[in-house]
Formats: sequence, C-alpha cells, structure tokens
Amino acid sequence: MNLNELSAHIAAEFQKHYGRAPRWIVAAPGRVNVIGEHTDYNDGFVLPMAIERYAIMAADAAAAPGEISIYDAHFKESATVDVSAPVTKGQPKWSNYIRGVLAGFQQRGVKLPALDVAFMSTVPLGGGLSSSAALEVCTATLMEAATGKTIDPIEKALLAQKAEHEFAGVPCGIMDQFISALGREGHLLLLDCRTRKTVLVPMSDPSVALLIINTNVKHELGSGEYAKRRAECEEAAKIIGVKSLRDATPDQLEKAKGKLSDVVYRRARHVIGEIERTVHAAEGIRQSNWPTVGQLMYASHAALRDDYEVSCKELDVVVEIAEDIGYRGGVYGCRMTGGGFGGCCVALVKADAVDAITKKIAADYKTKTGIEATIFASRPAAGATIIKG
Ligand code: GLA
Repeated sequence: MNLNELSAHIAAEFQKHYGRAPRWIVAAPGRVNVIGEHTDYNDGFVLPMAIERYAIMAADAAAAPGEISIYDAHFKESATVDVSAPVTKGQPKWSNYIRGVLAGFQQRGVKLPALDVAFMSTVPLGGGLSSSAALEVCTATLMEAATGKTIDPIEKALLAQKAEHEFAGVPCGIMDQFISALGREGHLLLLDCRTRKTVLVPMSDPSVALLIINTNVKHELGSGEYAKRRAECEEAAKIIGVKSLRDATPDQLEKAKGKLSDVVYRRARHVIGEIERTVHAAEGIRQSNWPTVGQLMYASHAALRDDYEVSCKELDVVVEIAEDIGYRGGVYGCRMTGGGFGGCCVALVKADAVDAITKKIAADYKTKTGIEATIFASRPAAGATIIKG
C-alpha cells in the first residue's frame, strides 16, 4: 500500500471502529540504514534513508475526558491511556512506545487532549527497520497535529529516543528517530551523531536500487546484547583515553591494544572502521561510484559479523548469496542493517536486475535456511507528515 492507500485504509478503519470520520491523519516512516551501524551511540556518522513503509494514525477528539484510546487496526487490540495523571508504563506491551512519547509531551508541559486513535503499521515488526521509532515519531506527530503546536524536528526525535530508552528499555542512539522525523524524499541522510548536523545525499540515479531482504528472523534489542555492546564501546573509549570512539584513530587503537580485552578491542575496531566507511560511502554515492559503495557495504557486514558479533546465520546467508550473484549478476554490495541479531539485509543492486536478483535470493535463501524471505525495494521516502488536519 502506498501512503495514499494506507491513509484511506486507516480512515476507513477509524470510521468502522469509532463510527465517525477522523479529524487528523499522520504518518511516520521506518528506515533502512545503508551504512554506519552501531556508530550512532559512539558519536559517529550514519547514513540511513526513510522507506515507503509507515506507522500511521487516524484520530479525533474523544468524548471521555482524560483518556487516549488507541485501537490497533491490524491486531484488533485496544489500549487506554489515562492522561489526566503522569503517563506510566502499562499494557499491552506495544502501547509503551506510545506511552513513552505521551509522557515526553507531559514533561514538556503539554496538557494532553483526550483522543480516539486508530493505528496500523506497514513497517515489519522486529525486522531492523525501526518499527518502534516509526511508532514513536508517529505518536509525536499526532500530538503536534492535535495540540496545534509543532516542535523542532530534532527535539521531536530526541523526545522519541527518550521514550525508547525509558519505556522500551533499549539504550538506542539517535539514528532511527532522527531519520523518521527528518527524512527527505529522494535522499539519504548523512547524520553526524555528535553535532546532529545533517547533510542530504541525493540518491536519484535510476540505474541502481536498494533492496531490503527480511530474513524473517525477529530481532529483540531489549534482550541486553545491545546494551552490552554500548558498554563495551564506552570501556574502549575510556581505556584509549578519548571522549568517545569517534575521537579514536586506528593508530591509537593499536597502541592501546595490550590494555584492551580481545572482545573490547574488536568492538572498537568495528566502530572506528565503520565511521570511516560511512563517510567514504556518502562520498561514493555523491559520485555514483556504486562499486566502491558496494565494497564498503560488504566490509561493514564482515566487521559486524566478526568483530562486533551482532549478525546471525540467516543474515550471513543472505550476504553470501548476494556475493555469489556478484557484480556480474547485478549486486554491488550487501550487508545486515539495523541493530542485528536477525531482521533485514540491504543490498545495492542494478535496477534492471531487481527481479532476477529477488528471485535468486528468495530461492537460495529458502534452500539454505528453510525460511521464506520477504524482499522489497524502496525509494528514499519523506519523514513524518501530517496528512490530514
Ligand atoms: C538500533 C538502534 C539505533 C542504532 C542501530 C545500530 O536500530 O535503535 O540507534 O544504534 O541499532 O546501528
């Protein structure tokens, strides 16, 4: 479903559930990170793009005061949030992404309006495409629409990130919420996570496409591995004697090697290399130097697999298949994307080979893992929008 169809769909669901038309419709996209993985919480660079998959909400003012009712139109499940008092964690689990953002608005001194809301999402859940950030940024955008007060998009991304930290228990960086709030159609976003400066990188060469390959192995970042990686990076920075790994050079890392455990050394090696790869890849994209960008993507995957250890068998299988198809078959590069431990790969491919590559990856992946992959292409989409209201 494209955004127009999705918008009509959620309006119809709202009408069916609440018996009237919605007053507001808002959406926020998921993202795919082209390169720059596990660099955001190290003050490094990331290069994501918003994808044509969205969390979408339709809403109207509610009769019952002090309550926000949320109807999940896909899973046919409802949540009620008491907004007359400070919003806290609650049930069902998915409502916490929304609750966290509502709490953030309260902390900014906003009196929350009573609302009836219907929502759904076309961002695969737990697929490494930021379904949670899309839901958080969508909620924040709804609050802007319903209160008539817009907030600076960077503030909005930070508010959504805080919700993820405090209500979902994932100490994530800033990338996902940032791209969902600030994405631009036709562009990747090179984000400096230290200064929060963004540079739009046009991605409009019709001869290439980005394919997203979902292994359909769900990832779970709340399980503690993500937080462990973050702590290991902080340890490395401390021992090397820099504020964050953004400031460390490969030379400094080698000099400190004797003082670092093997694991912490390898974590740092990934991060330091990945920050450099990301800056190079952005340059490569600007110059339409696709073979170079592809090689950087493969190198990123190898480091995430061997040094950072956040890949999994299925992600590695996808990358191996892509390497087998190779440049001659139309694949420039491929890597896991997002937090890892499952979820998706992203491949840079020749546009005229998309169909053949899709079929080949799907067939070989099924043979090797017994799992059906879901594969789709996306152009760089716009960030969060108020569609109606
Ligand atoms: C998750 C986090 C992001 C980022 C990536 C890894 O998506 O939410 O902040 O750290 O993992 O690059």
